[in-house]
Amino acid sequence: NVKACIFDLDGVIVDTAKYHYLAWKRLANELGFDFTEKDNERLKGVSRMESLEILLEIGQVEVDEKTKVELAEKKNGWYREYITKMDESEILPGAKEFIETLKENNFKVAIGSSSKNTMTILESINMVDYFDAIIDGNKITKAKPEPEVFLLGAEALGINPKECVVFEDAKAGIEAAKRAGMFAIGVGSPEILKDADKIIPSMKNLTLDILDF
Ligand code: BG6
Ligand code: MG
Repeated sequence: NVKACIFDLDGVIVDTAKYHYLAWKRLANELGFDFTEKDNERLKGVSRMESLEILLEIGQVEVDEKTKVELAEKKNGWYREYITKMDESEILPGAKEFIETLKENNFKVAIGSSSKNTMTILESINMVDYFDAIIDGNKITKAKPEPEVFLLGAEALGINPKECVVFEDAKAGIEAAKRAGMFAIGVGSPEILKDADKIIPSMKNLTLDILDF
């Protein structure tokens, strides 16, 4: 029996994945190499510093630890220029409506995101008050695919992980949900999200039937 839904933020509620991509691409280009959308798939759900490690590996660039911190800060500065300008119009179609349906039917609702920018984004799109719990990149020690973010979400909601459903657009996020013992719904392409229990193309037109497992 499903009692709660935990939503990834980037790429599920709001299309910030495109801004992460643009900012990482700009950094890669500045470092002298290209960065494609296919490369970007590997960064989804992964923490900022781990994303940088993957990016540097793709470009075969080696830098010291201090430079890594500077590069990550630079990327985050560019990224924040995008997210601070966002508004409600960038909420992905259907996401807000489905969350409203859940609340009307007494399901608990949480955010489980690797992003340290979660609160900034939720404020920009005016959705802070929609969630019973918000677990973000500042509250976790191990990012997805580790299950920590979702387990903390279940704990904050007071719900057994077995009664939670996770909505995720990233491969790392599906793995994290499964390792947390939860149901996983992949939002996006079946090739990338094949380990999910169900896959939907988007958050559009969802009804409570989606929670039948
Ligand atoms: C995840 C994104 O939600 O957050 C990743 O899918 C991103 O692409 C990660 O790297 C960390 O985000 P931030 O905002 O803390 O740099
Ligand atoms: Mg995501």
